[in-house]
Amino acid sequence: MALKQHAPEPICPSLDVPELGKFSFAVQYRGASRDAILVRFKGVVYGYLNQCVHMPKPLDCEHSHIFDDSGRYLQCSMHTICYDPSTGEALSEICAGKKLTALHVSEEGEWLYLVDKRAFMDA
Ligand code: FES
Repeated sequence: MALKQHAPEPICPSLDVPELGKFSFAVQYRGASRDAILVRFKGVVYGYLNQCVHMPKPLDCEHSHIFDDSGRYLQCSMHTICYDPSTGEALSEICAGKKLTALHVSEEGEWLYLVDKRAFMDA
C-alpha cells in the first residue's frame, strides 16, 4: 500500500546512515511519540518504527547494531527474529507474515526526509 506524503521534514544528513548502519530518531505517529530508525541496505534508505513484531521491544534493545552478521537481514537483538530490510517482513517462522511498520522516507540532495502522512518529527 502506497503511503501518502506530506511536506518533507528533514531527519538527518545522508552520511549519518552508512551502508548497514542505522539512525535513531523520534516521531509522532498517529498522535503518539514513537522511536523510529533509518537503515541503509544496498544503498537505499528505509524507515521503520523501531518496534519488533514479536514483543514491543526496540530492535536494538540488547545491542546497537541492527543487521545480522551476514548483512542481509535486520535482526532484533532480543530473540534474533530476522526481517527483510527492504520490506520489514519478518522472516522467522514464529512471526512469519508480520511486518515492521514502515515509514515513508526520501533521500534528496544528501539529506534524508520524513514524508509520511501518519508521522511527524518529534521535537
Ligand atoms: S522481541 Fe524481538 S525477537 Fe523477541
